[in-house]
Amino acid sequence: MAARSGSGAGLGAVKARAGARLRTVGRRLRLRWAIRVWLDVRERVTGKRDPMVPPRRWGLPSQFPSVGARILEYGLVDAGGLRPEEQVLDIGCGAGRVAAHLTRYLDPAAGSYEGFDVMPRAIDWAQKQITTRHPNFHFQLAEVRNDEYSPEATGDASTYRFPYADGEFDFAFALSLYTHMLPFQVANYLRETARVLRPGGRSLATFFLLNPEAEELIAEGVTLPFGAGGGRLELSADLDDGHGGRYRARNPDRPEARVVLHEDDVRELHEQAGLQIAETRYGRWCGRKKRPGAMGQDLVVAVKVSDA
Ligand SMILES: C[S@@+](CC[C@H](N)C(=O)[O-])C[C@H]1O[C@@H](n2cnc3c(N)ncnc32)[C@H](O)[C@@H]1O
Repeated sequence: MAARSGSGAGLGAVKARAGARLRTVGRRLRLRWAIRVWLDVRERVTGKRDPMVPPRRWGLPSQFPSVGARILEYGLVDAGGLRPEEQVLDIGCGAGRVAAHLTRYLDPAAGSYEGFDVMPRAIDWAQKQITTRHPNFHFQLAEVRNDEYSPEATGDASTYRFPYADGEFDFAFALSLYTHMLPFQVANYLRETARVLRPGGRSLATFFLLNPEAEELIAEGVTLPFGAGGGRLELSADLDDGHGGRYRARNPDRPEARVVLHEDDVRELHEQAGLQIAETRYGRWCGRKKRPGAMGQDLVVAVKVSDA
């Protein structure tokens, strides 16, 4: 009897904790939604709304338009050396957060922009709001599955062929994309990046790179900003991607929500793809101090050295 009532009490406590957790998550989501609506209304009233950037309350991956401007300035131009007359590919372009800024940077006569993404709503938005204003900006939907962004798609990122010809681009970038993909998928995307770049073309991609410094900082304790999910940053042990690759995740049940790769592995994946890393700029995601030009994620710039 005593044992039975003890386990009943235990179950009750578990239920109560789960209920409390659900209520906390619900409150957080409502608060986030309210903040987004408030920011949308404020921008509209003050006339600061950029018609190429989706309203925040839509929940598309372009919540912070000012970040797009910083990425262009410190990432693409300063680190990547992007020039206005270049042919540019945006891999995992979302709703065009960076494209919106590139419309003011790329030379409409000489430069060009192509972007693709797996999220139909994001591509719809970009085609309607950006291409109609800037016809040299093209967006395409990729039928590729990502558990976080396109769970209904069936295409496989590890075999997907980018819909462009060999050597078509001077510059290809992937922002906050490989933080949502597993190593064997990233391997294919880097190979495809090398294929569509001309020899000497540059690739720029962001990652969460795990190295001894990052591990030490995470162990000391990192609190994530509200916009990045909040809470303390805790990572799983190494997980297996089922193809000989390893990665870490914040939540092993939803690995694609936040994928952390070992820096050594990312170097090797670049080499195998025929991309030689020219520079790595480390970001603040793991608790590094704020530095001028440092972004949240780590940024890797590489040059296509051979025909992959
Ligand atoms: C965090 S968002 C970043 C979007 C955009 N790069 C930006 O900086 O605003 C991640 C994006 O990657 C896209 N994505 C996820 N898996 C993809 C894949 N296999 N191929 C292309 N895009 C993908 C998602 O749909 C989403 O738009």
